[in-house]
Amino acid sequence: MFDCEAHSVASVHQKKESGPGREKKKVSYEGMRWHYFREYREVWWWSKETVAVVTGGNRGIGFEICRQLAAHGLTVILTSRDASAGVEAIKVLKEDGLDLIYHQLDIGDSSSINQFVNWLQENYGGLDILVNNAGVNFNLGSDNSVENARKRISNAALRDKLSDVESLSEELIDNTLSTFLQQVEDGSWTSGGWPQNYTDYSLSKLAVNAFTRLTARKLSERPVGQKVCVNCYCPGWVRTALTGYAGNNTVEEGADTGVWLALLSDQTTTGKFFAERREINF
Ligand SMILES: NC(=O)c1ccc[n+]([C@@H]2O[C@H](COP(=O)([O-])OP(=O)(O)OC[C@H]3O[C@@H](n4cnc5c(N)ncnc54)[C@H](OP(=O)(O)O)[C@@H]3O)[C@@H](O)[C@H]2O)c1
Repeated sequence: MFDCEAHSVASVHQKKESGPGREKKKVSYEGMRWHYFREYREVWWWSKETVAVVTGGNRGIGFEICRQLAAHGLTVILTSRDASAGVEAIKVLKEDGLDLIYHQLDIGDSSSINQFVNWLQENYGGLDILVNNAGVNFNLGSDNSVENARKRISNAALRDKLSDVESLSEELIDNTLSTFLQQVEDGSWTSGGWPQNYTDYSLSKLAVNAFTRLTARKLSERPVGQKVCVNCYCPGWVRTALTGYAGNNTVEEGADTGVWLALLSDQTTTGKFFAERREINF
């Protein structure tokens, strides 16, 4: 699934051995850095050697997440499926005094993913933060809430299984989506007990959220020093192309919780769902 709610934000709290040398940022962002320094001074664990990758970074919330992470002084790799749109986004950020790296990445294309992973491994030895932001929505309107997607599934047994992190499995998530897709194919989905509003979007977000919890559970057993924290968040209803620029929130507000999560120093926050920097129920 490449449509995400609820961005997944993964941070690897493991120092990489090396990273590229980076130029100093321009003065216009120094004030912002000091502001963040005050806010995060107890927990400022990142540096220019910290590598953050953002998918769908050419516009909307992803673009703003790139901007904010770069302003914090990290090495940010802005990716997009359309290379010209990504290069253009990098230029805009450069005009603001921010220097980001670009690479093409279409998260629905396995050859693009493989090329990106090889390039990342060769040039940076891996990453510290992944913001899985890329997504699509073919519906319009304010009622796009994924929070309620699970509640809207009428099959109580399936609802319970998806709610219980212990019973979650890749197989369960895949089977749920395969069943839905099969019913879309044969036209029976309207009576299949799926969410009635924005059914495709809701289910794709439900899958991302379920996968976040499952991945967090699996990775939680790693020893200290090799931890990977995986969380997701809802940006609210944001004025981007995805909502026809009709949301309540600005992109700055929509990006805020994602950036905050990516920069959390605490290694115990994992498998959670957030909005406005607060934990909410899946
Ligand atoms: N806006 C909201 O109110 C809202 C609410 C809840 C959740 N979200 C989620 O927030 C995320 C960002 O949305 P947005 O509002 O910023 O929308 P947006 O402005 O439409 O941006 C979506 C981004 O995802 C990219 N993308 C789509 N498919 C891709 C693929 N296969 N590979 C790589 N990139 C791909 C798009 O690239 P192209 O430019 O090439 O299309 C674009 O950069 C989405 O996951 C969305 O579901 C948004």
